[in-house]
Amino acid sequence: MEFTIPNWSAEDEKWMRRCLILAEKGKYQVGSNPMVGCVLVEGGQWISEGYHKRFGEAHAEVDAWKNAGQPDSFEQGTIYVSLEPCSHHGKTPPCTDLLLRLRPSRVVLASTDPDVRVSGNGIRRLSEAGIKVDVGCLDAENRHLNRHYFTQRTHNRPFVALKWAETCGGMVGKSQASPESRLMISGPQALVYGHRLRAEHQSILVGGGTVLADNPQLNLRYFSGNSPQILVWWTRSSPLGNYRFKSNAHFTEITAASLKQAWPEITASAGNSVLVEGGAKTQSAFIEMGMWDEIHRIVNQEPHKGGGISAPRLPNNAALIKTLPIGNDTVYIYRPKKQIL
Ligand SMILES: NC(=O)c1ccc[n+]([C@@H]2O[C@H](COP(=O)([O-])OP(=O)(O)OC[C@H]3O[C@@H](n4cnc5c(N)ncnc54)[C@H](OP(=O)(O)O)[C@@H]3O)[C@@H](O)[C@H]2O)c1
Repeated sequence: MEFTIPNWSAEDEKWMRRCLILAEKGKYQVGSNPMVGCVLVEGGQWISEGYHKRFGEAHAEVDAWKNAGQPDSFEQGTIYVSLEPCSHHGKTPPCTDLLLRLRPSRVVLASTDPDVRVSGNGIRRLSEAGIKVDVGCLDAENRHLNRHYFTQRTHNRPFVALKWAETCGGMVGKSQASPESRLMISGPQALVYGHRLRAEHQSILVGGGTVLADNPQLNLRYFSGNSPQILVWWTRSSPLGNYRFKSNAHFTEITAASLKQAWPEITASAGNSVLVEGGAKTQSAFIEMGMWDEIHRIVNQEPHKGGGISAPRLPNNAALIKTLPIGNDTVYIYRPKKQIL
């Protein structure tokens, strides 16, 4: 579907920015759904606002409409929404139907919804009913906020984030590791950072070597939210053992000799996003396959004695986006030089 993209006024950007701020409040709660915010404006005045708070609950448009006192119509008003209204029956009725009832004079959207059940249908129905629809206000910002959702819906695969901690000497673990002698690299603030990443992703993946060496729990302990689905990738048949990750409700063990072979099952089980936490061989397999969207590399500044397993080599196309000092650690965030969204 083709649209004309207007030159956005400062007013449009102001209200859409508010939509994005509202949308982000749904982070950690909306699950596989997108984060969406909505603002109702009439005569340049704010009337009400809402957002998608939790998976299965009201969409942003319905929340904003309820907060406005559930009017029967909104004919003089403009409705700002950060994502195209849905046009299908999911857990809630289609938001496009609500907008058609309200008949606003204008609808402003940040992005079209790449979900095949929507994908321009919401816009088409509104336009056919004579409602002016402008699309693309702060589109890039919205896609970035919802990069997990957009990646999954557009490319039919999870957003892949790699995260590792390395010593300032470039080591990620001991050569002969065991759960008792595990190399603890980063400090407490970086630990919280890592758990926040777990809360942001729908699944977490580790290789068999990490399970054998560290027997990690892989749940969410230092940040509130939902524990991610756990994926363990074994390159050979999984050894018998009462590993700690098995005490979690949701885990999947994948046995496949290569990442290429494991990938279909990872795609089927990971949801919108997977946080790959290690170890080095597993991370390197993702890098070699070119299957990564973001890297969080935590470097500890304190000297550690002895050698061990080297950190994965950063991909050639990695661009440093952000540097974040936390305690005795520094987080370096990388994204591909050429982004796919
Ligand atoms: N610093 C960090 O952020 C961080 C995070 C996680 C882990 N680590 C450390 O990374 C190290 C583990 O990394 P890694 O690169 O060795 O491995 P890994 O990437 O965790 O797991 C992949 C390797 O596990 C082995 N494996 C898979 N299935 C197996 C099975 N059924 N039986 C026996 N072995 C199996 C294979 O090793 P082979 O190819 O040799 O067969 C495979 O290549 C540990 O020392 C851990 O402490 C560090």
